[in-house]
Amino acid sequence: MIIKKVIAKAIRDSRGEKTIKVTVKTSRKFKTSSPFGKSTGKYEAKPYSKNLTSDISYINKLDVDNLNKLFQKNDGKTIAQAFLILQDTEKLVKNKIGANSLFALEAGLLKALAYENKKELWEFLTSKNKPAFPRPVGNAIGGGLHGEGIQKKEPDFQEFLFISNGRTFSECVEINELAYNLTGKLLGAWTKNDEGAWLTGKTNEEVLMILDNVRQIIKNEYKKEVDIGVDIASSSFYKDNKYNYKNPAVDLNKKHQILYINELIRRYKLFYVEDPLDENDFTGFKELSKEIKKTGNKCHVVGDDLTTTNPERLKKAIKNKSIDAIIVKPNQIGSLLKVKEVIEIARKNRIKTIISHRSGETKDSTIADLAIGFRCDFIKTGIHGKVRTRKLRRLIEIEKKLR
Ligand code: PGA
Ligand code: ZN
Repeated sequence: MIIKKVIAKAIRDSRGEKTIKVTVKTSRKFKTSSPFGKSTGKYEAKPYSKNLTSDISYINKLDVDNLNKLFQKNDGKTIAQAFLILQDTEKLVKNKIGANSLFALEAGLLKALAYENKKELWEFLTSKNKPAFPRPVGNAIGGGLHGEGIQKKEPDFQEFLFISNGRTFSECVEINELAYNLTGKLLGAWTKNDEGAWLTGKTNEEVLMILDNVRQIIKNEYKKEVDIGVDIASSSFYKDNKYNYKNPAVDLNKKHQILYINELIRRYKLFYVEDPLDENDFTGFKELSKEIKKTGNKCHVVGDDLTTTNPERLKKAIKNKSIDAIIVKPNQIGSLLKVKEVIEIARKNRIKTIISHRSGETKDSTIADLAIGFRCDFIKTGIHGKVRTRKLRRLIEIEKKLR
């Protein structure tokens, strides 16, 4: 493979903020853009080395001969070889670019290598494994940092999620859409946030009651199955050792937060709770996991800000028995080698993996290919809006090809 050029430029994400797009040019062009989060974890890798402009100018000045030299000793015919090329690429650009730029560059290289091998990215990554489809985790209602307030009120939890269970991926997508539309009606909602999630002034519990209702309707009237989850993103309202709820106003200490979340799990049969405790509190996550088991509840305890797609933080979470599922956001760490490592460690330790979009997204659907290629258990994205559904459509397209 011969790289003719690598081009980086700034584009706008779904929130209108600037992010990076990288094009790797061989005999064809392979494009990848990075998303951008709003409720970023403290332990995420820096998106850019200095800033977006300096990363763009570094990539545009990159000497492609140095990259092409890598292909002289390794032709990237297998996925294992391709990852060795990424390893060498990382040595080359080390400390020169941040995580957002590194992800876009590495994904572009992998797509180009896949094409050289007459494969699409998901096929190249899957290698000899049988492709498996994730379940979609769909963001239906936004609160917390993703809320915009209705009469100055919003639920304190950041995301209310539907996780459908259908026979095929496309059926799962249909069920999530149905749940989303029913929710809009029952909420009486008329506006959405930039992720296409409904906005409401209701409290966490009022919202959960509605979601529980929607689940019943889908079960009884449509004979389909959907589970409910929440992304509490609790670090965003944790201050002075308290969880500071605004709607309604109440401060909970760690012990009461654990009891409260476990009670919500019981009352609304929650299937999934993400970041229920602060991003530094590995033992708090463990205590909640124990409490859930002790009371006979069943629910995935998911790390996002806790783990930030970082192998070292995941190992710590495993050692502490903090979680049984992990969010994987490639641009939280940048390196696709590390993304792969996180997923492998998770699988070995029976931790479910949820590859995820960010709140600020682009048209890019790379995470859909990664979901199949890395055999992730779930994919989290929005239910409504083009930049969200592009990821879902890509998976449906792959599903059709495999039929
Ligand atoms: P983000 O948050 O705004 O950082 O993308 C989404 C999430 O917490 O899952
Ligand atoms: Zn999250």
